[in-house]
Formats: sequence, structure tokens, C-alpha cells
Amino acid sequence: MKTDEVRFGIIGCGVIAPWHVYGIEGSENAKLVAVCDIVKEKAEALAEQSGNPKVYTDYNELLADPEVDAVCICTPSGLHAKIGIAAAKAGKHVLSEKPMDIKLENIDALIAACKEAGVKLGGIFQRRTSDIWIKIREAIQAGKLGKMVLGDAYIKYYRSQEYYDSGDWRGTWELDGGGALMNQGVHCIDLLNWIMGPVESVYALAAPLVRNIEVEDTAVAAIKFANGAFGVMEGTTSVNPGLNHRLEFHGENGNIRVEGEQIIEWSVPGDEEKSDSDEKSDAGSASSNPKNIFKEGHRLMIQDFVNALREDRDPMVTGEEARKSVEFILAVYESSKTGKPITLPLK
Ligand SMILES: NC(=O)c1ccc[n+]([C@@H]2O[C@H](COP(=O)([O-])OP(=O)(O)OC[C@H]3O[C@@H](n4cnc5c(N)ncnc54)[C@H](O)[C@@H]3O)[C@@H](O)[C@H]2O)c1
Repeated sequence: MKTDEVRFGIIGCGVIAPWHVYGIEGSENAKLVAVCDIVKEKAEALAEQSGNPKVYTDYNELLADPEVDAVCICTPSGLHAKIGIAAAKAGKHVLSEKPMDIKLENIDALIAACKEAGVKLGGIFQRRTSDIWIKIREAIQAGKLGKMVLGDAYIKYYRSQEYYDSGDWRGTWELDGGGALMNQGVHCIDLLNWIMGPVESVYALAAPLVRNIEVEDTAVAAIKFANGAFGVMEGTTSVNPGLNHRLEFHGENGNIRVEGEQIIEWSVPGDEEKSDSDEKSDAGSASSNPKNIFKEGHRLMIQDFVNALREDRDPMVTGEEARKSVEFILAVYESSKTGKPITLPLK
């Protein structure tokens, strides 16, 4: 489907919605025409800051608006697929915040609904737009480190009890779908999967160790990747203060280590030269502050989504891609629950 200007509606006007406004306003051939929140004041407040688009309190009404071509879904995670399926049925393209949903069957139904309706489905994983992660992935996928030995993600953040109490969906199985991994860690888990390739199995522990929440605030996993490498994932929101995440990649011929969004070790045979600009990205780290999020990443993803509609191609992160991190996290939960290693794909 080709279109000239993509007219967006934003559904869910909470913390992340202004990043979508920024992304739409900063993208070519994109325009914000409507916002929706069940809390009218939140929708009105966002509309006031963003050129006064139309305000809705029922997403079905926004979806019935013929002026809307595409929607950004910024509601609690457990509603993404439900709203996305309704959007697809109404003929709207769907760009969903991470995680694409909290259940695989819901993501599969969303992918199928978008295919059936002939609309595009994209997911937000803004770190995939950063030069450093693209460069690391290219080096590893090109085999520059030789046979891969280890791929690790250490995600040690801080979220207070007040943070979990700030929204009745936060820290619940029903709508957050998990905690330190499904909400915060999912970005680094996406990068680990994207860079190292498919995961074969996980053996994990996950539990709420500090916070008064249903879901995990801490999890660890031993990983086996399909390329034969092993790895470790540690994720928490209960260390104080929160630390920058670290991702580490080791092959028989080299090492790459990243702290926050900065490469701290780059031992890549045949590619020793590296300029300063390669080492840094302006992708913020939300290690202690949930609002410290790289704005330009959302803009690049929204511009890519607009271009995908105009060029009739897949967006940068398809439904199938966004599904992978959710599958990994659900395997971690399953392993912790059963005390057994879990093999992917999940059945
Ligand atoms: N990409 C990122 O870095 C990033 C950062 C933060 C949040 N997120 C994701 O964005 C989503 C929202 O998170 P948040 O922190 O903005 O949450 P939030 O609670 O601040 O905002 C969610 C909003 O959705 C509204 N809402 C709930 N049900 C609705 C419905 N049926 N129709 C319309 N509006 C509805 C709520 O009233 C609320 O205003 C989550 O899925 C989260 O994982 C992504």
C-alpha cells in the first residue's frame, strides 16, 4: 500500500507518548492528527503540547476516523495486540511500543490480522537505530570475531516501589506481562538476540526479590545460542543506584564490550581502527530514570515506518522480529517456574 503523507493517531497518552509526538513531528511525510486516552485530561494535555490534534477517549472511535492512516500504540503492554488487531481490522497501519505484546499467541494473532488486512506492522526498539549496535552486529554477523564463544547482557537497573505504584498496570502479570525483563530488560534482550542470532535454550531463575510486585524484579539465565556460543543474562530493577547496562561479545578471535551506549573494548581483527564517533551514541540509559530515553531513536523508527509505507516494504522491526525478545523472556519465566532448561521455539 502506497501513501503520500502518513496521518498518525497515538493511542495511550502517558510517559512514552511524547516520544512519538517528537518522532512524528520530526519525520518527513508524517502528521499527527489524533490522540486517544481513556483519561481525557491526559489526551487533552498531550494534544495541547502537539498542535491540537483531535482528542478521543475511546480507541474504537479514533480507529473509525477516516483521517487516521496509522496508529502508534502506547498503552500498557498487555493491550498492544488487542488494540493493534482492532486497528488492522479498521485498515490502519500499526506501530507498537515494545514489547509488541506480552503473550506469543497475541503477537501471532496481531501479525496474522495485519497480513490479512494488508496493513504494515512495526515494533519500537529504538536502540536498533544506533550506530554502535549496527556496527557490532555487522562485525559479528560477518564472522570478524571468528567462532562466537559468549554473548552476555547485564541489565542492572533501579526502579522504586513508587515507580511500580505509579500505574495500576505496572508490575502485573495481566498488563505488564513481567517486570525487570518484560518491561525494562527487553531492549537489551532484543539487542542480544539481534546481534548473536537465535537462542536455542535457556536455564533461568526469576522472582521479585525486593519490590512488592507480582512479577520478577530480578532474573538470571544461562543461554545457549544456535551458533553454539553460551551466554549469561542478568536483569534487575532492584539495585540502587541503577547501573549502565553492559553487553559483551566474545569470539575465538576477538572481544567487544559495551557499557551503557559506549564501546569500552573493541578487539576486532582487521578492524582495529575506530574513530571516537564510533564509540559513543547519544542513546540515553534509563538505568535509574525511566524517562531518560533516547528521543532521536523514536524519530528514526517513525521515519522508517513512514518510508516503509511509502515504499511498500517491511519496517525496520517487523512483528516477527519484535516477537523474538518476548519469546526469550517467556522461556526464562517458564524455566524459572519449572526448574528445567527450556528449548526454543516455545510450543
Ligand atoms: N521504547 C521505550 O523505551 C519505552 C519507554 C517507556 C514505555 N514504553 C512502553 O510504552 C507503553 C506505555 O508505557 P508508559 O510508561 O507510557 O505507560 P503509562 O501508564 O505512562 O501510559 C499508558 C497510557 O495508556 C492509557 N490507556 C490505558 N488503557 C487505554 C485504552 N484502552 N485506550 C487508550 N488509552 C489507554 C493510560 O491511561 C495511560 O495514560 C508500554 O508498553 C511500555 O513498555 C516504551
